[in-house]
Amino acid sequence: MEAYRIKVVEPIPITGRDQREEALARAGYNMFNLRSGEVTIDLLTDSGTGALSVAQQAAAAIGDETYAGSTSFYRFHDVITDLTSYPHILPVHQGRAAERILFSALLEPGHIVISNTHFDTTRANVQLAGCEARDLPCPEAKDIDGPYPFKGNIDLAALEEALKSPDADKVDLVIMTITNNGGGGQPVSMANLKATAALCRRHGVPMFLDAARFAENAWLVTQREAEYKNNTPREIAQAAFELADGCMASLKKDGISHMGGFLGIRDDDLANRCLNLLTATEGFRTYGGLAGRDLDMLAQGLAEVTDPRYLRARAEATAHLAELVTLAGVDIVQPVGIHAIYLNAGRLLPHVPPERFPGHALSCALYLEGGIRTVEMGSLFAGEVDEQGRLVTPAAHELVRLAIPRRVYTKSHLEYVGQVIADIAKYPERVPGYRVIESPPILRHFNARLEPF
Ligand code: F0G
Repeated sequence: MEAYRIKVVEPIPITGRDQREEALARAGYNMFNLRSGEVTIDLLTDSGTGALSVAQQAAAAIGDETYAGSTSFYRFHDVITDLTSYPHILPVHQGRAAERILFSALLEPGHIVISNTHFDTTRANVQLAGCEARDLPCPEAKDIDGPYPFKGNIDLAALEEALKSPDADKVDLVIMTITNNGGGGQPVSMANLKATAALCRRHGVPMFLDAARFAENAWLVTQREAEYKNNTPREIAQAAFELADGCMASLKKDGISHMGGFLGIRDDDLANRCLNLLTATEGFRTYGGLAGRDLDMLAQGLAEVTDPRYLRARAEATAHLAELVTLAGVDIVQPVGIHAIYLNAGRLLPHVPPERFPGHALSCALYLEGGIRTVEMGSLFAGEVDEQGRLVTPAAHELVRLAIPRRVYTKSHLEYVGQVIADIAKYPERVPGYRVIESPPILRHFNARLEPF
């Protein structure tokens, strides 16, 4: 059970089917165009959507809004230094700002970044820096039904080959995303992290963590990697940061706050280059685009997030939803992680071909049936299209992500979600496909307009 009780509540919109049909049509059948007042259960993202604790609200009240040398910054700095051991901690307003600053300072145009899987903003920022973002997920990740416990791992053999290839001197950076959000929210083992760090060191390439969900990765390590079963999540997180040359972190996830992030760096010279960019584009080094109250809420959130009782309850809630969905006959990416479950829409809707976007179709059905907002992670998100917007290469899997905000929804909310999915799964043939009627050239899924077809 959760080791907290609820002190402040917020009503959620309860809507009728007609209202939802109208809202979705107005939104061009794109979840990103809905207004929050039209959504009953919002599982679009676990980013910036967590509930604050009383201690975080109290911390916000003592936030020091001084421009330079704010005491809030030093509290934030001390908590992160204890966690990561990096000598340079640069606050930023969110994860993608850390990506942009690091890549501008470190990457050379025409070079390569390798990752277990780049998150979509990370990939976009690597490409904006003129580089190639290359994913090398482990082979087990391809089998989304298999039980392999660490499908977030990088493919060590493929990484070694890349670091020995004629192109090796073009590899500027290796990024390990923990947990691997683009790869089904799967964890990375400490053994894989250690081996990657050793390989990178041997070849003189820096290894950075994309540490958005560092505490959740650590929890899954306590549960799945025998050697660490007696360690605390905090000890495991500290050991993971210790292995890397630095990290980028969105703190909108495991900082359990609405806004924030940081860049942690060991190398003095690289840190100085990043510091100049930080000052020019984000803010002075003791606030970096954040308010003093944000820094204090983050310092407190980072202390709370590694509490094993909190992590266990969160993992169990996600597992409970996964079980309800599985009982309803809907397959999900296995094994279940923590921040989200990923429904296999391709398998549930075999009558909807990839060019009619089964993941998107299921996502729309979840909204129309129950006011539940989710996000497609299939061919609309990751498929390749030609100049006319026609799908040429579908995504490997047609998935729908149900991300669970931290400390927000109760068991009965999740049971409601399970029931809506079960209702859809009784008559999946009734769910129509969709076609794109308007599509921007990049980041299509955020801005496209579609219609049932
Ligand atoms: N890295 C990972 C692994 C992420 O999941 C995200 C954001 C970012 C970087 C970027 O961080 O949003 O603070 O700029 N993921 C959110 C999601 C948006 O819904 O998964 P940001």
